[in-house]
Amino acid sequence: MARTEYDRTTAASFKAVREIRRDGLDAWKAAIFRHLNPEPGMTVVDVGAGTGAFAAAMCDWFSVKVIAVEPAPAMRALIADRSDVEVRDGHAAEIPVPDGSADAAWLSTVTHHVPDLAAAAREIRRVLRPGAPVLIRNAFAGRYERLRIVRWFPEVTRVLDTYPSVEQTCRAFEEAGFTQTALEPVPQADIRSLSEFLDRVDTLRTADTLMRSLTDAEFERGKNRIREAAAREDAQDVDLTSALDLLVLR
Ligand SMILES: C[S@@+](CC[C@H](N)C(=O)[O-])C[C@H]1O[C@@H](n2cnc3c(N)ncnc32)[C@H](O)[C@@H]1O
Repeated sequence: MARTEYDRTTAASFKAVREIRRDGLDAWKAAIFRHLNPEPGMTVVDVGAGTGAFAAAMCDWFSVKVIAVEPAPAMRALIADRSDVEVRDGHAAEIPVPDGSADAAWLSTVTHHVPDLAAAAREIRRVLRPGAPVLIRNAFAGRYERLRIVRWFPEVTRVLDTYPSVEQTCRAFEEAGFTQTALEPVPQADIRSLSEFLDRVDTLRTADTLMRSLTDAEFERGKNRIREAAAREDAQDVDLTSALDLLVLR
């Protein structure tokens, strides 16, 4: 069974609270630039593109073309219609793209949804031209000290530890012929204040696989932690940054 059903409600929540404002993605823009070496017109396959936030960002940042492959109709329906993003129904182990035709693959918070990572890696190998990079933005089992959500809702590690680890992910891709070239935590500024976090957290609970795993009591305890911290005088000094890892293979 899929970890998360991306139906219309989840898709709408995802769009509302999981798409990160562009000004919160400066570090991601820089990191992707370094590893993608983008050239105008090159083709990036966005595997599990969701609502297309990164597909649109990459086109705007680097003038690339993106093929947005997404299995959930409700997520696909929210991808903005634009000439440089081509939306296709598919999934990581069945990418509707010809052999050796893409210049890079991008997978953002997708690997933990993929039932057979080895099959996905083989399919990505098939669609990429030789030497093209795979950029994976994800949380990985055992590497969550920089994730903001863990500080407020520590019980999410229960599910986080079932996500593929860096080692498992690299093994799957190495079997398909890739080699790891980089692993770096990249910060994102998706929330500006604790009160904004508090305003979003109910919607986040429907849109985030980790938050969905919490019991009502665990969720309420975490929400109270945020509420209490937001009411304190030093609320503006609380560290709100969060980081996911960027794993790159070629
Ligand atoms: C957390 S969302 C991330 C969306 C987008 N990549 C982003 O970062 O905004 C995960 C997405 O992966 C998709 N997904 C689930 N199973 C998948 C699979 N086997 N292959 C590719 N995508 C999958 C879901 O439908 C969902 O849109």
